[in-house]
Parts: sequence; C-alpha cells; structure tokens
Amino acid sequence: MGTDVGLLLARDHEELERSLVMLIEPWRSDADKRSALDDLCVGFVAHAEGQSAVLWEALAQSPAAAVRRAVIQVFAAHEAQESVLTELRSVAPSTARWHDLVQQLRDLLRVHSEQEDQSVLGALRAHIEPARYQRLAGAYATERLRALGMLHPMSVIDRSARRPAARP
Ligand SMILES: [Fe+2]
Repeated sequence: MGTDVGLLLARDHEELERSLVMLIEPWRSDADKRSALDDLCVGFVAHAEGQSAVLWEALAQSPAAAVRRAVIQVFAAHEAQESVLTELRSVAPSTARWHDLVQQLRDLLRVHSEQEDQSVLGALRAHIEPARYQRLAGAYATERLRALGMLHPMSVIDRSARRPAARP
C-alpha cells in the first residue's frame, strides 16, 4: 500500500509550523526572520497548490455533499492563512504586530490541521473508491513539486504569477 495523502498533508503542516516558530525565535536576526518568511511563503503556496490538486481530483471522483463541504472548508482555511501571510510580509520583523500575526497564523494552521484530521480526510476516505483515494497522494506530491519548482517567494502575494485556482 502507498503513502496516505493524509500523512503527506500532516507532514507539510508540521513543517509549516516549524517555519512559523523560526519567525519568533528571539535569538534570530531580522534578516534571518525575513529569509525564514520567504521559505515559509514558498512552502505554504506549494502546499496549498498540492492540496488544491487533491481536492479537485476528489470532487471529480465524488459529488457527495460531504466532499464538497470538505473542499470548501480547506479552500477557506488556506485563504485565511494566505491573507495573514500577505500582511506579515508588510510588517517589520520582531515588532508586536509581527508576533501577533505569526501567532494568528499558528492558530489558523492548528485549527486547519485538526479539521483535516477530523473531517476532511474522513469525507474523502468515505466517498472515494479506495484505489482512487490511494492515488491522491501521488497527485498531491506531483503538484506540490511542480509548484516548488516554479515559485518565487514574492509570488505568494501575486496571484497572477500562479496558475489560476478555480473555486468549487
Ligand atoms: Fe493545508
């Protein structure tokens, strides 16, 4: 049996959380924090693009209301995270606002990860044929890698630089 897409998503969320912690480590210089934010932006967008591919594939496989709800939930969560990330790019590192935004992003990411574990993956597993579900991990990894190869950190705030994301 191949890797479960849930494992890949969880791994990415953990990596994003580690990058977020780096943004508020007091011993890091502001330049280090800016650079860590660039890495975080690339990781975040690659993750979101990969997850979009999975969700569109899931919708193509199942019209179930639970799958549609899961897709909407994930897109909404990523959009909320992206908007905080975008504001973070305009704030000076180490300021109170910077810390607030990082904490806000950590909270959003934690809730998103919990929702994914508790409802999103459950909906996909329940409504998608097992062999097709297994293939979602490959779709995720491929799209994530494609995005990583194309992304520049600044593109996180320039949607025109990314493939247009359709909405459910
Ligand atoms: Fe996610």
